Amino acid sequence: MPKKPVAVITGASEGIGRALSIKLASEGYTTVLAARSEENLRTTADLVGATGGEYLLAPTDVTAETEVEALFRKAAKLGDLALLLVNAGVGTFKAVEEISLDEWQTMLDVNLTGAFLCTREAVTLMKKASDGHIIYINSLSGKRALSWGSGYSASKYGLRGLADTVRIELRKSNVKVTSVFPGSVNSSWWNKFDFDFPRDQMVTVDNVVAAIWSAVTQKGRSVIEEIDLRQVGGDF
Ligand SMILES: NC(=O)c1ccc[n+]([C@@H]2O[C@H](COP(=O)([O-])OP(=O)(O)OC[C@H]3O[C@@H](n4cnc5c(N)ncnc54)[C@H](OP(=O)(O)O)[C@@H]3O)[C@@H](O)[C@H]2O)c1
Repeated sequence: MPKKPVAVITGASEGIGRALSIKLASEGYTTVLAARSEENLRTTADLVGATGGEYLLAPTDVTAETEVEALFRKAAKLGDLALLLVNAGVGTFKAVEEISLDEWQTMLDVNLTGAFLCTREAVTLMKKASDGHIIYINSLSGKRALSWGSGYSASKYGLRGLADTVRIELRKSNVKVTSVFPGSVNSSWWNKFDFDFPRDQMVTVDNVVAAIWSAVTQKGRSVIEEIDLRQVGGDF
């Protein structure tokens, strides 16, 4: 039997990454589930397993170079790396003068340097195969500024720059690059903050998964390069 295509999903332990992992596994990908929390990854793995899908549990801190290298070595042993979902992300939202260096650095480390480390490993594999698709879960904060979001926006604007450059570098290698820019998404993300935005008005995790799936299933030599996905009522 031919091996299934492999999808690496970072930030697979909850939220959008968990939902993406379940969808991709149910569509026939071997999913490689990467994030730091082994306990939460185990829950994702159980949900993936319940759909009959295949997975590898791969606890990984995307900011640690050796851990990311090990992640892609393990992924490569499972089959051809068809998809990389660069999804792991963190945010601290405060006035710029209140952000500590540690908070600033963490956003850049996870959202940008982690994305770079994963991209570097995936590109090496995908270029060899002349095939693959890298999908960056960015944010509308990667396209327009919002008060209290200086560090988050800086990391996500940077992520757009990384994605746009990688896309150009990979055009001749038949590797597709998509950036997704969601507005507020009703995921576990919002459990970590005190904001009282109406969660029932937000884009749903399922909406994000459906948008990403439409990009994954673009046939042939066309690519959806960017997706903006916001709530009908506009931003908060
Ligand atoms: N929710 C929104 O409103 C929204 C809107 C626009 C864009 N986004 C973006 O969507 C992506 C997913 O967010 P979400 O809504 O699903 O939020 P979430 O529920 O908070 O999930 C964030 C994920 O990132 C992982 N992560 C954080 N630091 C990591 C690290 N150092 N190494 C590996 N994994 C790490 C977390 O896992 P561990 O803690 O287990 O490591 C978790 O799985 C993020 O990039 C976020 O910026 C979200």
